[in-house]
Amino acid sequence: GKLTIHTTQQGAELGDLFGIFFEDLNHAADGGLYAELVRNRSFEFDPIDHRDFHALTAWEKVERGGGRAELSIEDSQPMNVRNKHYAVVAIHEAGDGVGIMNMGFNTGIPVRAGENYRFSFYARRDESLNEPVRIAIESKTGIVHGEAVVVVDSAEWKRYEAEMTADETNFSSRLTIVTGGTGKLYVDMVSLFPVLTYQGRTNGLREDIATLLAELKPKFMRFPGGCLVHDGSLNPDDRNSMYRWKNTIGPVEQRPSRRNNWSYNQTLGLGYYEYFLFCEDIGAKPIPILPGGYDPHHKRIVPIDELGPWIDDALDLIEFANGDPSTEWGSIRAELGHPEPFGLEYIGIGNEEVGEPFFERYTYFHRAIKAKYPAMKIINSSGPFAAGGEYERGWQSARENGSDLVDEHYYQSPEWFLANFDRYDGFKADEPKVFLGEYASWGNTYYNALAEASFMIGLERNAHAVGLACYAPMLCNVDYVNWKPDLIWFNNHEVFGTANYYVQKLFMHHQGDRLLRIEASGFEEPLSVETKPINGAIELGTDASSVLYSNVKIVNNDTGEERTFADWTAELSDTEEARQEGKAKRFERLCETAWSNYTLHMSAKRTGGPRGFVVAFGQ
Ligand code: AHR
Repeated sequence: GKLTIHTTQQGAELGDLFGIFFEDLNHAADGGLYAELVRNRSFEFDPIDHRDFHALTAWEKVERGGGRAELSIEDSQPMNVRNKHYAVVAIHEAGDGVGIMNMGFNTGIPVRAGENYRFSFYARRDESLNEPVRIAIESKTGIVHGEAVVVVDSAEWKRYEAEMTADETNFSSRLTIVTGGTGKLYVDMVSLFPVLTYQGRTNGLREDIATLLAELKPKFMRFPGGCLVHDGSLNPDDRNSMYRWKNTIGPVEQRPSRRNNWSYNQTLGLGYYEYFLFCEDIGAKPIPILPGGYDPHHKRIVPIDELGPWIDDALDLIEFANGDPSTEWGSIRAELGHPEPFGLEYIGIGNEEVGEPFFERYTYFHRAIKAKYPAMKIINSSGPFAAGGEYERGWQSARENGSDLVDEHYYQSPEWFLANFDRYDGFKADEPKVFLGEYASWGNTYYNALAEASFMIGLERNAHAVGLACYAPMLCNVDYVNWKPDLIWFNNHEVFGTANYYVQKLFMHHQGDRLLRIEASGFEEPLSVETKPINGAIELGTDASSVLYSNVKIVNNDTGEERTFADWTAELSDTEEARQEGKAKRFERLCETAWSNYTLHMSAKRTGGPRGFVVAFGQ
């Protein structure tokens, strides 16, 4: 058979097609990408977050060498009104170290020999207590891996900082804060970060997880959710509030921690400024999603005449991201350390909304944003796929308002993805574009990854209609699973990408700029070849037995030369090894295998079921 790529006959641009979606579910932020090692650092955990939570969750009292103390939570003299609770250690009998201990996430606080850790806390003391405070990273049995001494010298709240170097690797450590003497020690906002964060930022991100995300080379990142955007009350000062971005910037101790609708507490330490910075660091365009004044889960609705502050949130966010430092919100960004704009191009209103109250309110957002920022691309919302009619309502609203994109979500079987390879074939170029803001087949097997790859080819070759697409959810802590499958799994010290991750990576690394016309001829049974004009992919059809789909993805072959399929077809067989080996590492190695003039990026097979291969090759 022969495959001809016409590099001069170009179709739609692929633009920002493939990106990532971040939502803080599965402890994706706290206990995940956000590098903070202390769990419940500001004693704000509450039963409203999760029925088992309380202000001392993840904390224990320490009484050593005959010491005796009471540990309690107070809120009468808080360090600020948004962070009300603090711990009080009332030491009655001095011993050999009395105080508190944090257990961290997962199995504990992970430290590595030779690495530095930055401790900080807010503290005050009463007059009688004047012994120094000893900070330590310890094993479960009390072996000290690193320590520091802090002199708390005031009866007023004050911030103290210390650095420790771990002398051993231990992924189940504890952080202890103890003192001698008698009297009261007041403690709040206890923090421990590895000095080594992604790009070395303070209040930064976990190096390993952030690196895995950066290695995808996503064109964009959608954040901060998901359902956590719109699930909540209408009052921004309420800890059960919807996700209001203004609560997430500035000093971390001023950010109110919040009930995350995935049944845990969200510190908001990873907030909008950090999201923008991370997008910039990894070269992804930021796509923030704002609540549209409507909580579809609890039917909380902002009255139209009170929508002003919600619309201001959208306008102020655009100014925060793009405004000159002379503007109100641009100056706040500059004060935070980023005078240059973040270059925001897209903004989403609503997530997976169903119901008229949303669509009624969307129009107000849309008009206000376009009036002030005509070039801003606005993403409208549509309900989850199961509610077919609701999808239609989202598209109707998008057409009426002139939305730039419509956010579609679906989680389906791999067979659904294979069968719906052509879902967007009939979509028109002059309509709002598709933002496939969440999708995944149900599983993390090779087969799932392959089905998604097949579907992604359908997205690519319909780039005239599909503007953006991102797999979801992205991150999952193995000990705090709200949802699966997920693209990337981690614990407190390891992270790995699934087969689905490597498919995403392949498509992101080989997206290309434009679709090209491809011709195929001379292929023999059992492979029948269906050519699609003006596209970047060929679908190699089916035979009656086991081959359901085989997809060849061709990207960026713009040398102008004619390439022949015969050159490499002999070697493009499914490998037994790929079928047998169930581990992502093996998959990664396959991705690197060089073949002939091209690079084979993925190969997978399932005996007796659908099989296929996905190949991307460049120059
Ligand atoms: O991705 C997980 C959840 O699925 C998202 O929060 C929500 O938008 C969808 O229902």
